[in-house]
Amino acid sequence: NTPPSVPTRYAERFLEDMLSAWCLDVEYVRARGDTLFHLDADGTEQAVTDFVGGFGSLLLGHHHPAVVDRTRELLAAHTPVHAQFSLRTQAHQVATRLNDILRREFAGVADEPDGGYAAIFANSGAEAVEAALKHAELERVTRLTALREELAARLREAADAVRARTAVLGDRARDLVGPLGPDADPGTVAGALTDAVVAHNAGALYRPPLLLALTGGFHGKLSGSVQITHNPAFRVPFDGLGPRAVFVPADRPYELERAIAHERAYALDAVTADGVVELVERDVPVFAAMFVEPVLGEGGVVPLRQQDALALRRICTAHGIPLVVDEIQTGAGRCGAFFASSLIGLRGDYVTLAKGIGGGIAKSSVLLVRSDRYRPEFELTHSSTYAKDSLSCSVALTVIDLLEADGGRLYRRAAERGEALRAALEAVRADYPDVVADVRGRGLLLGFAFHDQSDAVSAHVRGLSLGGFFGFAVSGYLLREHALRLMPTGSAPHTLRVEPSARITDAEIARLAAGLRDLCEILRNQDALFLVRP
Ligand code: F0G
Repeated sequence: NTPPSVPTRYAERFLEDMLSAWCLDVEYVRARGDTLFHLDADGTEQAVTDFVGGFGSLLLGHHHPAVVDRTRELLAAHTPVHAQFSLRTQAHQVATRLNDILRREFAGVADEPDGGYAAIFANSGAEAVEAALKHAELERVTRLTALREELAARLREAADAVRARTAVLGDRARDLVGPLGPDADPGTVAGALTDAVVAHNAGALYRPPLLLALTGGFHGKLSGSVQITHNPAFRVPFDGLGPRAVFVPADRPYELERAIAHERAYALDAVTADGVVELVERDVPVFAAMFVEPVLGEGGVVPLRQQDALALRRICTAHGIPLVVDEIQTGAGRCGAFFASSLIGLRGDYVTLAKGIGGGIAKSSVLLVRSDRYRPEFELTHSSTYAKDSLSCSVALTVIDLLEADGGRLYRRAAERGEALRAALEAVRADYPDVVADVRGRGLLLGFAFHDQSDAVSAHVRGLSLGGFFGFAVSGYLLREHALRLMPTGSAPHTLRVEPSARITDAEIARLAAGLRDLCEILRNQDALFLVRP
């Protein structure tokens, strides 16, 4: 396993230089379970325990034997990969299994759609989010078009009635039209009414959509999904590429109500009744969708509190705004159930999945849309060369089989291993309350949060913290000194994400705790020199 001799570095050389600054410039040559292997100077394999776990993709670990064997079988059988626009049984089987699990895990949660959830397949997490954005906008535009046609029809009806002298303008209509003189002929009045209402409604009926997301939320870095990814460093340079998102804090749901009220748009509806044309306000669908994660992963591993999640759910329902529950990192068993949102009784109108359903080998994602919101015509407007292929869908079926085996033994194991891991991390925090701020998360999606080090005694630690590199620097130390692979959450650089497979052992957890204790001792004593490459 000798790595290829390094050619000219055309592929993200700047990033690699940053990795080098943080002592993370390692090339892995083999992976198995919770272990990655790299070669040291004399070509000997060195094992690293991987607590990053593919950023949430590896509940089954690297190269799970059953997934590898199934992939080999599929390749040996020359399973079609590229057969787009053909019948795909495996895709239906995946969607059926997901619907079965949804029905089981959300049994008793209100508003179950009779027709289940329709599935749209994609290739990455962000792509599933892009599909969600597009489908939600298709829903919004469909409602908006129907509203425009309805208002136009009633306005014609009102103008005709005025012209035929069978109706007069009501107070609000007269105010809007303004003075026309006592002897204005009915045709002039009808024309003035039409022009005034059309002019007033133009702004509301043709404004671009808005999106709603949570402060600290992360949904991907493609041009649409990046608009609802809160981290300004990822979003702001590109905010001209897509619709504006309004961010609200997860723990203050009333802010959502206030944001919706603040952005409210209404159109005037000319209603003719009893010989009078009255103008009535009609709400215009402004928000295409709201996006939430059951646990804000990349935003610092912050679980949604059940009462907040249900409040957000209630508000979105009240305003007819589809709620997208993004389970790309929390889903596929990582939090102790297939859907982490089922643990807090949060039913999404849409649900996105990716990462774990690929079993650590395939790259696939799924958007699930409740059947009574689903727009079938979306299937003729949205597609991808690679999505929904028989190979990745067959791998997803194997993943679901493994997760669902023995009545969901893997979910229980994820919960149990998560508790063991959390206990070990909490014990470190108990010994170093001055260094460790919090241990949080759900199941095997945990965050180990250091106190902010921006006012540290050591100028080096202060610099790392102020530069947003603290998490990377301490990850480099743990890799170099303890052969532990951790990474910070991109939007909460003082938090290390801890996301091993469900097979993580007590011994590996103990090694992690020992490495973290060593690091905490350094930070307590501000021996920052340890954090730089010797
Ligand atoms: N949604 C969530 C909740 C995610 O955590 C991620 C990725 C994505 C969408 C985008 O998926 O990378 O396949 O396009 N999370 C990783 C992280 C990057 O750092 O937590 P992608």
